[in-house]
Amino acid sequence: MNNRQLFLQHVAQTSDAPLAIEMVKASGMYMEDAQGKQYLDLIAGISVCNVGHCHPAVVKAIQEQAASYMHLLVYGEFVQSPQVAYAKLLSDHLPENLDCVYFTNSGSEATEGAMKLAKRHTGRTEIIAFKNSYHGSTQGSLSLIGDEYWRNAYRPLLPDVQHLSYNSFESIAQITTRTACVIAETVQAEAGVHPPAKEWIQALRKKCTETGTLLVLDEIQCGLGRNGTLWAFEQFGVVPDVLLLGKALGAGMPLGAFIASKDIMWCLTNNPVLGHITTFGGHPVNCAAGMAGMKALLAEQMIKDVAAKGALFVSLLKHPSIKAVRCLGLMLAVEFDSFAVNKKVIDYCIANGVITDWFLFAPECLRIVPPLIISEAEIKHACEVILQGIDATA
Ligand SMILES: Cc1ncc(COP(=O)(O)O)c(C=O)c1O
Repeated sequence: MNNRQLFLQHVAQTSDAPLAIEMVKASGMYMEDAQGKQYLDLIAGISVCNVGHCHPAVVKAIQEQAASYMHLLVYGEFVQSPQVAYAKLLSDHLPENLDCVYFTNSGSEATEGAMKLAKRHTGRTEIIAFKNSYHGSTQGSLSLIGDEYWRNAYRPLLPDVQHLSYNSFESIAQITTRTACVIAETVQAEAGVHPPAKEWIQALRKKCTETGTLLVLDEIQCGLGRNGTLWAFEQFGVVPDVLLLGKALGAGMPLGAFIASKDIMWCLTNNPVLGHITTFGGHPVNCAAGMAGMKALLAEQMIKDVAAKGALFVSLLKHPSIKAVRCLGLMLAVEFDSFAVNKKVIDYCIANGVITDWFLFAPECLRIVPPLIISEAEIKHACEVILQGIDATA
């Protein structure tokens, strides 16, 4: 059997039609398959590789840290310099109240940690999430998923979770002194790129403050430069009580985090002690990689041109079959009439060396979330292939 057959036989599958392309190398904007074909990456491993694939500084940091030490002890017992340095770097680039970092292995675990933290901090049980939101696939984070199709098969889920409409002022009225936390993506990604109205998210912040409810903003997909600022919330004039990070946080290695004030985070230390436990969360190699990635993001000023690059995509993606292009920085959804139309364009793009896909709650939208280092020439090429794909598959 070849690797593709072994993959289908022995690796657990989550769909009956995986892409099943065998990639053997990745660097910068490109991946290369076993036949030597190059692919321009328009989705960055779903918003993970913001600094590009295998950034040399990230590779070096991984090699050096792996040669010094890897796993030593479960999270939080030993002082591990990669964790300490990365937590400090993150705190230095966040508002004052977000100065205490709990590192996890994934975004879903960051969501889980934040929900537990909110329950402990407030002594309340109600959690408010939003329709068409995605916060992870573990059973707690799945309870927040804003779409019945995706959660129904796994009931019973967490009780006392409400799903309200994003960007709706009526939803804000439902937040009360019973509500432990409101969890929202700063920019709804899997819904097909929907930013919040500034007045709405500011009113949400105000109501959370009035009711003593923690505002948890999920920037697992939109953090670290994706929307044109280091943190998406900067663009809306709000600061969360808890920030969720993941994906690009590890610059290609698995790493998530929930970040709050030291005061709020302190409740995980008592009654019960060890209020949140992880063996591998904040693995030293992953923290070293993530920190090298974030330093490269800042030093190489990768965020500076993100808004202009997004605008270039929008200006080039003009076609009668494109119903809309929603964009905030380098997070774009290109909307077609149906999934059937979109899927044909996606298949054409992949066959012609451009990797893209669709969104969970917006299957009629083509996803563009490339590494932030994408060049003008690469944007032009990607748009040409997409437009050719629309014509070729009409
Ligand atoms: C907004 C958002 N939150 C949470 C998650 C869950 O992260 P992970 O897949 O690392 O558990 C994702 C993953 O796609 C996401 O996009």
